[in-house]
Amino acid sequence: TPPARIRNFCIIAHIDHGKSTLADRMLQLTGSVEEREMRAQYLDRMDIERERGITIKSQAVRMQWGVDGEEFILNMIDTPGHVDFSYEVSRSLAACEGAILLVDAAQGIEAQTLANLYLALENDLEIIPVLNKIDLPAADPQRFAGEIANLIGGDAEDVLRVSGKTGMGVEALLDRVVERVPAPVGVEDAPARAMIFDSVYDAYRGVVTYVRMVDGNLRSRERVEMMSTGATHELLEIGVSAPEPVAAKGLGVGEVGYLITGVKDVRQSKVGDTVTNASRPATDALAGYTEPKPMVFSGLYPIDASDYPELREALDKLKLSDAALNYEPETSVALGFGFRVGFLGLLHLEIVTERLRREFDLDLITTAPSVVYEVTTEDNAVHTVTNPSEYPEGRIIEVREPLVRAAILAPKDYVGKIMELCESRRGSLISMDYLSEERVELRYSMPLGEIVFDFFDHLKSRTQGYASLDYEPMGEQAAELVKVDILLQGEKVDAFSAIVHKDKAYSYGTMMAERLRKLIPRQQFEVPIQAAIGARIIARETIRAIRKDVLAKCYGGDISRKRKLLEKQKEGKKRMKMVGRVEVPQEAFIAALSGD
Ligand code: GTP
Repeated sequence: TPPARIRNFCIIAHIDHGKSTLADRMLQLTGSVEEREMRAQYLDRMDIERERGITIKSQAVRMQWGVDGEEFILNMIDTPGHVDFSYEVSRSLAACEGAILLVDAAQGIEAQTLANLYLALENDLEIIPVLNKIDLPAADPQRFAGEIANLIGGDAEDVLRVSGKTGMGVEALLDRVVERVPAPVGVEDAPARAMIFDSVYDAYRGVVTYVRMVDGNLRSRERVEMMSTGATHELLEIGVSAPEPVAAKGLGVGEVGYLITGVKDVRQSKVGDTVTNASRPATDALAGYTEPKPMVFSGLYPIDASDYPELREALDKLKLSDAALNYEPETSVALGFGFRVGFLGLLHLEIVTERLRREFDLDLITTAPSVVYEVTTEDNAVHTVTNPSEYPEGRIIEVREPLVRAAILAPKDYVGKIMELCESRRGSLISMDYLSEERVELRYSMPLGEIVFDFFDHLKSRTQGYASLDYEPMGEQAAELVKVDILLQGEKVDAFSAIVHKDKAYSYGTMMAERLRKLIPRQQFEVPIQAAIGARIIARETIRAIRKDVLAKCYGGDISRKRKLLEKQKEGKKRMKMVGRVEVPQEAFIAALSGD
């Protein structure tokens, strides 16, 4: 297909604003999917995606659409909607010339959409504003069209109104994509440059790599080179998703399709990398590839210690399809053998632990999420700390923590409550803008460590669910942080160590000590529970002693009864962890960590 007949676009939308439903309608209208094969959310393949109604991995689909007797190829590139996956979003955007900005006509634009809109504008994409769900009685297209026009410039009348549900306005939208989105531009006889915008692991086909051709062409059976590593592979298959895979002889300038090279691991075919011809490689790769960086770390432990090998195997398998996942073994006094796992953010953490539970049937404990701290000690060494229990001993010169720029969008009535919350989390206001008379965008700089700790839940409950949040990294800052340890009879319980701001050390310490006092059964001796910063005790609780001599009940009589009791006690001990002389049922640790 000549580039003049190609249109590459994506849809920018907030979760639930109807992207998948609209995509379904487009597939139907363009005849890409037979009526009888149509099912809801055709493009969301992962079970978890379907259940939660979120899109995790991006997908591309090729459709045909005729305007005035001319046939056009429309490549729709689906983008993930969540902050944790913003790197994937920016790669998907880079593969397009245009973007549909899809906004729920009853809700208006949300923080996440705004962030992605700015990304699209930075990439010089042509924006087609669209209000969706106009069939809803609560829809207020007049008002939100004005809001959108304010944001991106242009006329409120220019904002299209559609319903993905009824199909109303969708044909006009396809026409407008053809009319407004620029055709791709590239050099046909140059060495190939194809940008990888997605890479997925498929149990049957191995790694399937989605690319956008920028220059030159790639042919089936030729050798290709990955420009970030120089590794070469044979192209076993090349083709397009329409939306089912259709093999082709090759792909040329402006086209979007998939490659299969037989690699077994998505890390060999990385999002953001450039693919070129091995026989005639391009000199410059496309816009720089950056390694996705884990932002949040947590310890993952099997509840049943004998599941440790299964956990390792499961993580190895997940890694084949998730290039951003990384982990290394760690051990904990309280929890035994497990792994320290790095995630892109909290949703990523949730998705991974959920998949481990569901797809691999593993029962897991996760420790409180921690961000990455840089700790400078007296000898001027800088330690990167992803696990509070590995906080360096001795005198600390400086602790640095990651900062983010958080954008919060909400109705103006909640501004006071949001400011209060952000300030209690050490945020400082950068700016506040009215999007319209009713809605405000607040920008804060805030420590990431304060956000990973239930910030979103509090934001939602203080705004009755109306606020939306997005954040992006904004460097680091030095802060007065300390490590709080929790001691049981003088012994540290590693899983409960936390790095917190000094003003919050006391409340963290008392909260954990109290929680543990309620959860740990009495022993035959008194057990102090203490919270400490270094050698300084900041809080204390006591579990009083009981006399728990099971044999005393037998009055020295019946021997077999004695033996039975002893055996019973031994069994009970299996699930006990020893911290010094103190026996703690594992459930107590789990309950204390989960906070309920
Ligand atoms: P993510 O995949 O999470 O990004 O969500 P999405 O944006 O793809 O939303 P989805 O298409 O799953 O739609 C979210 C909800 O809105 C579903 O309950 C849809 O049935 C409903 N919905 C989507 N489009 C319309 C529409 O045009 N009108 C009405 N009334 N409801 C719609």
